[in-house]
Amino acid sequence: MRKNSLIVCYSYSGNTRRIAETIRRLTDGTYSRIYPRQPYPADFELLLEQVRAENRTKIFPSLLPLTERADGYDIIFAGTPNWCGTIAPPLAAWLRANDLTGKILLPFFSHCGGEDKGMEQAVRELCPDAKVGSSLYVLENRRENLEETVRIWLEQNGCEFREGRKEA
Ligand SMILES: Cc1cc2nc3c(=O)[nH]c(=O)nc-3n(C[C@H](O)[C@H](O)[C@H](O)COP(=O)(O)O)c2cc1C
Repeated sequence: MRKNSLIVCYSYSGNTRRIAETIRRLTDGTYSRIYPRQPYPADFELLLEQVRAENRTKIFPSLLPLTERADGYDIIFAGTPNWCGTIAPPLAAWLRANDLTGKILLPFFSHCGGEDKGMEQAVRELCPDAKVGSSLYVLENRRENLEETVRIWLEQNGCEFREGRKEA
């Protein structure tokens, strides 16, 4: 039986969203963006300050109720930018609010090549009873071969995907 998959993603500036859309094209999964109820500041210093405070206190932002819940899905693809070496608080909020017991959880991350203090570990801690597969890490502006990279990652995790014309 074909497994039912959900792709959830928080993206501040569009890079993680591009990965999510590639996964959606290849898997035909349901795609759902995560939006904090209160958008993050555009000013980088204020943004950093807020993210650090949320990570320190573990008080994550409340989310708009638009985002699909995990109930009814077998595979959850969960994407986020690397923010301050870990997952962005909106994805942390979504993972904390959903019971992923027994589900396959495949994290995907966008980053700028900077510090990673354990993004995959952060996901595992929030979802201790999920079956966490290998994570996909994509450098922020990378577009070339993205589809092929995602396809290889899906294959490594035993996921079905749409065959198609390979990118040049
Ligand atoms: C507040 C903030 C903190 C960041 N911290 C890191 C970091 O610690 N390590 C890293 O590799 N990239 C870091 N980045 C870069 C982003 O992870 C990268 O640009 C990513 O592609 C953004 O994804 P998005 O366009 O989906 O928001 C940070 C970006 C922001 C805005």
